[in-house]
Amino acid sequence: MKIDVLALFPEIIAPALQTGILKRVQDANRLTVNTYNLREWATDKHKSVDDYAYGGGAGMILKPEPIFAAAGTLDPDGSAHVIYLTPQGMLLTQPITEALSLETHLILMCGRYKGVDERVRRKLVTTEISIGDYVLSGGEIPALVLIDAIARVLPGALGDYDSARADSFTHELLDHPHYTRPAEFAGMNVPEVLLSGHHENIEEWRYAESLKRTAKRRPELLQKLELTEEDIAILEAEGLAEAVKNSERN
Ligand SMILES: C[S@@+](CC[C@H](N)C(=O)[O-])C[C@H]1O[C@@H](n2cnc3c(N)ncnc32)[C@H](O)[C@@H]1O
Repeated sequence: MKIDVLALFPEIIAPALQTGILKRVQDANRLTVNTYNLREWATDKHKSVDDYAYGGGAGMILKPEPIFAAAGTLDPDGSAHVIYLTPQGMLLTQPITEALSLETHLILMCGRYKGVDERVRRKLVTTEISIGDYVLSGGEIPALVLIDAIARVLPGALGDYDSARADSFTHELLDHPHYTRPAEFAGMNVPEVLLSGHHENIEEWRYAESLKRTAKRRPELLQKLELTEEDIAILEAEGLAEAVKNSERN
């Protein structure tokens, strides 16, 4: 898949693309990421891409002309899925990430200042995505968050596919605790079952820990699941069943 990023500060994104999983998926030709500076499409001698807001008020707005010109260059036939990163968009979740990983061409538009002229959103943008209920100074970091989340679910991204399958949110449950050597550290022991070599017991323990951790930290996630009698028994044994019942459905 190809991702084009249109930004005022693409240099924020470029170094991260050269590391870890992001580099690996690009080297494996699973993903191509191109970053573009919006100023390339500015037409005046100062390369300006922003202007004052009609109606007054503080803060500049990204002008429509350079953005439309850039979209015309990057996506001449209008087939790309254009995403505007904005705190007003739908909250990024793992299912959205997985759906977007099936696209062939994404264009990520990063805002700055007060954001983009509304006509860009009306005419060019397919989807608006937020990475959380807070306001950052630009869309570059949100774009990088989205690229990273997509890259790690692309086939071949992770050396061990199982490590993606167990991640938090992949099955609406938070990930279970992890331990590595040594078996005893600072008076704290690794749970016996993990040292047993008994795979079935280990899987059961991991599942129960995921369930309990989700019930403690994000009980509303469990509202979306059909809990089995065994699940409910695990939660009741920990006094967590009520917390799940009383949590708000998302
Ligand atoms: C200072 S913000 C503008 C906020 C805008 N005035 C509003 O209230 O919706 C500048 C840019 O940062 C990006 N941005 C900030 N917070 C974001 C978030 N939580 N998720 C995605 N993008 C965000 C957007 O691209 C936005 O256009």
